[in-house]
Amino acid sequence: MANSSGLHYLLYALLVAAFVLNCHGHERKVHVVYMGERPRGDTSAQYSHHSMLANVLGSTTSAKDALIYSYGRSFNGFAAKLTDEDVARFSEMEGVVSVIPNHILKLHTTRSWDFMGFSRGKVGASQEGDVIIGLLDTGIWPEAESFHDQGLSAPPAKWKGICQGANFTCNNKLIGARYYNSENFYDTTDIESPRDSEGHGTHTSSTAAGREVPHASYFGLAEGTARGGVPNARIAMYKVCWSFGCALADILAAFDDAIADGVDILSLSLGSDEPLQYFEDPIAIGSFHAMKNGILTSNSAGNSGPSPYTVSNYAPWTLTVAASSIDRKFVAQVVLGNGKAYTGLSINSFKLFGTSYPLIWGGDAANYSAGADPDIARSCATGAMNSYKVAGKIVFCEALWDGSGILLANGLGTIMADSSITDFSFNYPLPATLISTEDGLQILDYIKTTENPIATILVGETWKDVMAPSVVSFSSRGPNPITPDILKPDLTAPGVDILAAWSPVAPPSVYFADTRSVDFNIISGTSMSCPHASAAAAYVKAAHSNWSPAAIKSALMTTAYVMDSRKHADLEFAYGSGHINPAQAIEPGLVYDAYEVDYINFLCQQGYNSTNLRMVTGDNSSVCNNEGPGRAWDLNYPSFSLAVEDGQQIQAVFTRTVTNVGSPNSTYTARMYMPASVSVVIEPSVLSFSKIGEQKSFKVKVYGPKIMQQPIMSGAISWEDGIHAVRSPLVIYNILPGFLSSSFSTPQKNLQFNGPSMYTKNGIIGRN
Ligand SMILES: *[C@@H]1O[C@H](CO)[C@@H](O)[C@H](O)[C@H]1NC(C)=O
Ligand SMILES: *[C@@H]1O[C@H](CO)[C@@H](O)[C@H](O)[C@H]1NC(C)=O
Ligand SMILES: *[C@@H]1O[C@H](CO)[C@@H](O)[C@H](O)[C@H]1NC(C)=O
Ligand SMILES: *[C@@H]1O[C@H](CO)[C@@H](O)[C@H](O)[C@H]1NC(C)=O
Ligand SMILES: *[C@@H]1O[C@H](CO)[C@@H](O)[C@H](O)[C@H]1NC(C)=O
Repeated sequence: MANSSGLHYLLYALLVAAFVLNCHGHERKVHVVYMGERPRGDTSAQYSHHSMLANVLGSTTSAKDALIYSYGRSFNGFAAKLTDEDVARFSEMEGVVSVIPNHILKLHTTRSWDFMGFSRGKVGASQEGDVIIGLLDTGIWPEAESFHDQGLSAPPAKWKGICQGANFTCNNKLIGARYYNSENFYDTTDIESPRDSEGHGTHTSSTAAGREVPHASYFGLAEGTARGGVPNARIAMYKVCWSFGCALADILAAFDDAIADGVDILSLSLGSDEPLQYFEDPIAIGSFHAMKNGILTSNSAGNSGPSPYTVSNYAPWTLTVAASSIDRKFVAQVVLGNGKAYTGLSINSFKLFGTSYPLIWGGDAANYSAGADPDIARSCATGAMNSYKVAGKIVFCEALWDGSGILLANGLGTIMADSSITDFSFNYPLPATLISTEDGLQILDYIKTTENPIATILVGETWKDVMAPSVVSFSSRGPNPITPDILKPDLTAPGVDILAAWSPVAPPSVYFADTRSVDFNIISGTSMSCPHASAAAAYVKAAHSNWSPAAIKSALMTTAYVMDSRKHADLEFAYGSGHINPAQAIEPGLVYDAYEVDYINFLCQQGYNSTNLRMVTGDNSSVCNNEGPGRAWDLNYPSFSLAVEDGQQIQAVFTRTVTNVGSPNSTYTARMYMPASVSVVIEPSVLSFSKIGEQKSFKVKVYGPKIMQQPIMSGAISWEDGIHAVRSPLVIYNILPGFLSSSFSTPQKNLQFNGPSMYTKNGIIGRN
């Protein structure tokens, strides 16, 4: 959840809907024609894209006008304005993998590092300085203190990026920045450069790799030293998100550049709301080519929880990050004239110095000439309030809102009662706090039974959260909506009430028109947990520069802190392998490694055929030898997932291979923890290694009774040598009959449970 309020987004959603309704087949809209691996040899991609377009559109002039991007630095394809007829023609053309409309994706915010026992890394500053984290986001505020480059050497020699745009300077910390806007749409707040007017990209960048900044705070709250996970690593910003969202063609253009520029880790705190097939999803496509080039992509899981099947960014070659709490929560208390106090959730920086003010019920302050009545005004909606009644008072509201209804009517503060959010806090443009519906009833009773009701709202405090870490309600949940046998999310990281740098021109609260300016802000989202995991990945990369993306991901997953299952009904579908533990991740002992060929075999089983996979890989040798649907039990994944159709028996054999990266001579013994009804046999159950890099394979045979409507049961397999515990969760769950036999590469949209999301409730839509 970041700065932009729901209003901003709702308004945009309405605009988009209107736009779509007006569209006819003849209108040209931006599409991406994706053509797989970069053409070999020295044929100019730009030239061939141009002539392909000219052939279809009929002239070189119209081709020139239509072409927006020519991808060709890291993979092949282009973005152009096309009619429905053009789209149909390109779709049938040889060499085209997919033609994808320019979907708009959404953005999915320091005590967090100390909380996980990672106060200072063991890897040297110069090794860390060799690692470049690329972020696709809303841009960055280059002058923010978190991005100073004192003491940093020149960028690594491999770096080929640029610093684009007027009035924007890079340094040895922020070593590159580019921006992309295929829709060519700019709101008044958008800045046409990599400069961040939203705050989100500045926040994620500083969370991942910000320098230490002492005395950072949000208007005095949460004061302390702010820093990123790898303060010596370099940052490259690829601005693909604007006030309207993040367009698919821009995301692909940024991947095309970032891979060729030489980034080491990619961090994307954004995603699609709808499940997409792998080769129609810009993040799956871009991260596939990144993986081929040795770059791990770390993604936010999305903010659509807690319903099942809501996780986004589920491609097995990427890391998918859920969001959990740290041991600090932000509260603000209300004290009534009768002395009773109630604790609410709020990042409240406003000081009323204990002075009490008149307290009224929103329903008593309806602005009738604006068409409001008590039923509307009780939720204190913007524009519904009568400023004569509200001015100088604290208003009790029966819904969560961004505070603008009271602020714009000159109210002094607001107490909101709404039990839909209980595990994270918002910041508001006026003194405000969010209490439970139950406490709200008591306050309403006090107002109705007291002659001159009064109240005060105390300045915000930070309380120790003894329940931490627990996965926050909004964090998107598994199961994986298109590949049931790959467990997603992969792991969890701090994403609740995170303090990090902010753009001084971005609003500092949930009210989009809040004009105050801050250098640090406290926000929540899987957008905030993702850069924590990206930093942990960069740290592993700094320690082991030659590790593959899969090895880095495996190290993060198998060393994760085990989460408390009692706090999570949906277990691993909330937190995957567990909570990142960067300090341990550089010494995992064994890794589950995987390369392009492994993912190609996986894709064959997902129903993709040799023809389209050859295009994606650019390699005629990739052949599916078992074309047609199959199970994903043999992909060398660091976790185990077994989907069982309702009423079927539990039965599977998984094959895995581990690579020794610990001590040359070591012997690992398999241990497992499973519910008693399930039998698990690991063959062999002892693995002995005599050198680094040695690989050993094993099978995991799982048997059990028929199960029905089992949302999830889980255990774990752990390889232990007395020093390392290489732990992988194993989950078993039921899916609807027919799911597995249906077309594998078709997203299971029907399994999206569109229950009321906490984020869309009451119109407050957060940035993920
Ligand atoms: C450059 O950016 C800074 C920060 O937004 C702004 O204050 C300044 O006016 C800009 N200068 C120009 C020439 O645009
Ligand atoms: C009531 O709403 C109207 C229309 O928005 C506005 O012009 C007027 O100032 C409001 N009245 C009060 C007393 O707030
Ligand atoms: C491969 O799949 C594509 C559609 O994805 C289809 O057009 C093509 O005919 C298939 N090729 C073979 C050899 O089955
Ligand atoms: C792959 O095979 C196709 C058809 O057999 C051929 O046209 C193409 O040149 C080959 N590509 C490469 C890179 O060898
Ligand atoms: C590993 O074991 C082998 C045989 O037992 C021995 O020759 C070798 O020296 C050992 N290596 C290390 C590093 O301990």
